[in-house]
Amino acid sequence: MSKTPPGTMRNGANAMHPLCPTPQSGRPIVSVRGLVNRFGEQVVHDGLDLDVRPGEIIGVVGGSGTGKSVLMRAILGLREPQEGRIEVLGLNALTDDATQRRAIERNTGVLFQDGALFSSLTVGENVQVPLKEYHGDLPDSLRYELALLKVKLAGLPADALNKLPSQLSGGMRKRAGLARALALDPPLLFLDEPTAGLDPIGAAAFDRLIRTLQQALGLTVFLITHDLDTLYAICDRVAVLADRKVVVCAPIQEVERFEHPWVQEYFHGPRARAARTTRDATS
Ligand SMILES: Nc1ncnc2c1ncn2[C@@H]1O[C@H](COP(=O)(O)OP(=O)(O)O)[C@@H](O)[C@H]1O
Ligand SMILES: [Mg+2]
Repeated sequence: MSKTPPGTMRNGANAMHPLCPTPQSGRPIVSVRGLVNRFGEQVVHDGLDLDVRPGEIIGVVGGSGTGKSVLMRAILGLREPQEGRIEVLGLNALTDDATQRRAIERNTGVLFQDGALFSSLTVGENVQVPLKEYHGDLPDSLRYELALLKVKLAGLPADALNKLPSQLSGGMRKRAGLARALALDPPLLFLDEPTAGLDPIGAAAFDRLIRTLQQALGLTVFLITHDLDTLYAICDRVAVLADRKVVVCAPIQEVERFEHPWVQEYFHGPRARAARTTRDATS
């Protein structure tokens, strides 16, 4: 296991991280094959395949209830699928082996759809939760400094550290969640609809932050979103969930042209045109 001190900036981290394949290797950082997820009679995924490449921001889109969050939970080992194989950083995500599971957890940062900060803890204490779990031997003062660093990295003012989540705006809470997700310097970041509920300016600022951090820290980002602007602004590739699988995964210019009813409606329907008009007017 890596002994890299937390908080260390690893420029080009993907190439340096011991578990991370280099972009040149051609090996995916996440590989999903033949995934089947069912809830009773309901089949959510049926033979879903997906590769995430090291160093990319992959946008995951699909209608509501198509199984984007379930896919993320399965990749994170939080849900056991009925069938399929999932590898994360070369490790089997579906194993019962506690050491391997911990290695995956240690190397993945997650911002869940509901943000899920501990409401009775300050932002600083929230960010310190993973630090305490994995770096319990660090002096309190150093852990505090690391939390402060992450909070600043996420674009929050230093005084946010001592505030409760309820004292922050929605956008600031998202940033606090991001700071916590980055606490352990993970090479791989999972974000489930991070800009949902933010106003367009706040959402665009959050997108820019993700792109900046991804480039500065060499992150790979798995980003579930509804937001067309986000796809255009920061995603290297876009995976579309429909018909219980990933129907296309490609750069957005290719995905736009993909012949599928949901894809065509999403990229060329009235809402898409409105988004495009706004984008053209502001760029
Ligand atoms: N724990 C669960 N129990 C039963 N059904 C679930 C559970 N989690 C998700 N589902 C169902 O699986 C489908 C996909 O859910 P989800 O991945 O949350 O969709 P989304 O693409 O909107 O993120 C939904 O129809 C949802 O109702
Ligand atoms: Mg969801």
